[in-house]
Amino acid sequence: MQKEFEQYKDLERILVSRKDIEEAVKKLGERITADYKGKQPIVVCILKGAVIFFADLLRQLDLSLDIDFMAISSYGSSTKTTGVVKLVKDLDRDVNGRDVLVVEDIVDSGMTLSYIKKELTQRGATSVRIATLLDKPARRRVDLKVEYSCFEIPDAFVVGYGLDYAEKYRNLPDIGILHPRIYEK
Ligand code: IMP
Ligand code: MG
Repeated sequence: MQKEFEQYKDLERILVSRKDIEEAVKKLGERITADYKGKQPIVVCILKGAVIFFADLLRQLDLSLDIDFMAISSYGSSTKTTGVVKLVKDLDRDVNGRDVLVVEDIVDSGMTLSYIKKELTQRGATSVRIATLLDKPARRRVDLKVEYSCFEIPDAFVVGYGLDYAEKYRNLPDIGILHPRIYEK
């Protein structure tokens, strides 16, 4: 375990190391670059959790792209979804007639992304695809197609590389399982 950040003491263990992330993001970037060749997609970051993945992924995309940001809330500060999805910050750009690639940190129940996909499709996007760093398929509550995913993970609450618990731990370079003592107290 990397010990250079004080907050690693709150982790049970590291699940995905910075090195694994770096390799996976590079591979995914090559795949997306090939799939969108000749297109000019709008790449949308879902705030705040996806921000680090987004920044790393963008620099692997050899495309003439636009970026935009959207914020959704469904969680509060608990580790279980409320199932209620709320649009907190909308896009600046019009997606009508555009290919949209939505970048998310993790797909859990799938409620957030299924809402976003529906919304952007209704606004006239030519295509809406999803790129996620992590996927927890065991927790899916809605049918959702995820086109690009780096890692499938077990049903555990993870933090780091953008992912938070009560807004903390986003700055950790690796992804780790949060020790239950942190949210059970
Ligand atoms: P969904 O709508 O249930 O798919 O929830 C997706 C959102 O829940 C993600 O964007 C995260 O913000 C949050 N989330 C789900 N699982 C985790 C986790 O293990 N750690 C941190 N955030 C999570
Ligand atoms: Mg999130």
